[in-house]
Amino acid sequence: MTKFYSAIFLGIAFSTAIASTSVTATNASHMSNSQQEHNAKQLISQTRPRGHYSCAECHGIDGNPPITDKYNKQSPTLAGQNADYLTRQLLAFKTGTRYTDEMKDILLDYTDTELKEIANYFSQQVLFIDPNLDPSIDTLVHSKDEDEVWVIKGKKLYETGDSTRGIASCQSCHGPLGKGNSEIQAPQLTAQHARYVRMTLKAYQEGTRTTDAAIGGQMQASTQALTNNDITELAAYIQSMNTAP
Ligand code: HEC
Ligand code: HEC
Repeated sequence: MTKFYSAIFLGIAFSTAIASTSVTATNASHMSNSQQEHNAKQLISQTRPRGHYSCAECHGIDGNPPITDKYNKQSPTLAGQNADYLTRQLLAFKTGTRYTDEMKDILLDYTDTELKEIANYFSQQVLFIDPNLDPSIDTLVHSKDEDEVWVIKGKKLYETGDSTRGIASCQSCHGPLGKGNSEIQAPQLTAQHARYVRMTLKAYQEGTRTTDAAIGGQMQASTQALTNNDITELAAYIQSMNTAP
């Protein structure tokens, strides 16, 4: 091929490439809700090279994971969680800002667009609150009676904080029923599993979870003065929260 022809050839190949990307992009934006749901379900049901389990295996196909001891940690509930919050966390896992053995490197196999699709999908699922949940199931060995006491103490601290100890009210940011507040990027907490809540509050307190650093460090500040008992009680209350009054 002469220089002239190869330049034309490259030009054609290039414009074809542009045309085909823009076609895909248009298709994506015109995808119907059911197509988007179908795509997202495929993404969370498959395993990619770095994953041993699919996302659904740990988090449930609808983002409502079972309470189980099968893995080292309890997987959090994702159903109904704020989409921007989920996207931010997934990108943090991908870049290594947030780390956990269970999801080590898994997200490197997903594009940022796929992670957004997954986040949108989980945010649209309905949070399932098990009315028959035994509150003592979450691996702490304790009785239902003890749990009730924890829930009462946790509720008080959640609602009013404790100004004598410099603890802000959790409710002021996360809302009365733990619905969260997307304007200040505070996630939904409603009925989140106690074992996960305890673990993640400890992680903020000890500085191993730093995903709030870029948005103001609210959780590192909010957990500084908490005792281990406070954390246990808050987690018991959060798990017991119900969307119905
Ligand atoms: C082996 C079990 C396991 C697999 C597989 C898994 N996760 Fe997780 N996931 C966890 C655990 C455990 C945590 C909590 C980690 C921590 O904070 O230490 C978590 C945390 C998360 C969070 C943060 C939730 C929050 O409230 O901050 C999101 C979002 C998430 N996972 C999505 C995914 C997606 C998407 C996939 C698939 C690509 C996936 N997970 C695969 C166990 C798993
Ligand atoms: C000033 C507002 C503010 C206050 C007060 C606050 N939070 Fe938060 N909370 C946030 C924000 C913002 C995030 C998201 C941080 C991030 O991206 O890591 C968050 C995250 C969390 C998470 C992680 C949720 C998940 O799915 O991983 C838990 C649990 C939590 N807060 C519990 C509490 C508790 C309990 C209190 C009271 C002791 C409290 N928060 C007080 C704003 C607040």
